[in-house]
Amino acid sequence: MKILITGGAGFIGSHVADRRLARGDRVVVLDDFNDFYDPSLKRKNVAPHAGNPNYRLVEADIRDRDAVFRVFREETPDAVVHLAARAGVRPSLLQPVLYEEVNCVGTLHLLDAAVVHGRPRFVFASSSSVYGINAKVPFSEEDPIDRPISPYATTKRAGELHVFTAHHIHGLEAVCLRFFTVYGPRQRPEMAIARFIRSIDRGDPIPFYGDGESLRDYTYVDDIADGVEAAIEGPPGFDIINLGGSRPITLSRLVGEIERALGKTAKLERHPDQPGDVPVTYAAVEKAERLLNFHARVPLEEGIRRSVEWYRTHGSGP
Ligand SMILES: NC(=O)c1ccc[n+]([C@@H]2O[C@H](COP(=O)([O-])OP(=O)(O)OC[C@H]3O[C@@H](n4cnc5c(N)ncnc54)[C@H](O)[C@@H]3O)[C@@H](O)[C@H]2O)c1
Repeated sequence: MKILITGGAGFIGSHVADRRLARGDRVVVLDDFNDFYDPSLKRKNVAPHAGNPNYRLVEADIRDRDAVFRVFREETPDAVVHLAARAGVRPSLLQPVLYEEVNCVGTLHLLDAAVVHGRPRFVFASSSSVYGINAKVPFSEEDPIDRPISPYATTKRAGELHVFTAHHIHGLEAVCLRFFTVYGPRQRPEMAIARFIRSIDRGDPIPFYGDGESLRDYTYVDDIADGVEAAIEGPPGFDIINLGGSRPITLSRLVGEIERALGKTAKLERHPDQPGDVPVTYAAVEKAERLLNFHARVPLEEGIRRSVEWYRTHGSGP
């Protein structure tokens, strides 16, 4: 199978690329190595594949329509895993236009190219943030979600709608996966768990928003990669599917788990809740179980232990 992975040098994408190459697939990674975080970390993620004849790296921006069409023309992939995006809620408050251009216009370029070049199966990375301040938990794919509370969430919902339209008009087989806070080795360095591990280890204070009772549904990256792989194979048609651990935990407990794994105590720097942050995320995963045979297998304690182990060997980071 030939797979195009956009954002394949990033955190989640590089895990998916590793797996597909290990299976013997041809993998084309399309990534622009932008400086949202230190691009040398992304280079390290893909460095092991440099000599692999089944691997091709295309350095391009998905906002560049010609570059996107060129890749499809040259490769005609069987499947596209579209992970390239400006991620993160808080930075999107400062740069909504950039988020719109990358996450929506860039996605449209990929969909247009896919429709012209053989209609490969299309897997789109969406986000739990589309649920906004949903009062009902757990969050179900059927819940009404017309009130996103950050530009990032708006662009991810818009991306889902563009994917549906391409399915409806052109018969593109597609699935949108709503990831719930993903963590593990290679996590983006600005995300909470990576930052907390680094700061607690160094004895630096960690920013602690709100009263510590906000709830997040954390999902280990291997479980997410399992879900992505299943989505490459099916189901037919169009679907939106949550991928989450379905066991939300408080910020206080998260910090406690990291303290235990490191054997160190956190210094907390307290801040009020941030605009754009949601009080709870909690995935209903019945649809993922039914359609993708998805089961989040790695419990938080184990995932944090593995993340700390990886940090100690690779990731002292920026
Ligand atoms: N990590 C999470 O918790 C999480 C949760 C929900 C959704 N997601 C989504 O999953 C996807 C992957 O997230 P991640 O955490 O691995 O982030 P990441 O930033 O590590 O990976 C994204 C990759 O896309 C590339 N990219 C960004 N803009 C690009 C552009 N214009 N052209 C080409 N490449 C570009 C980046 O260089 C990066 O390597 C994103 O779409 C993100 O919105 C992630």
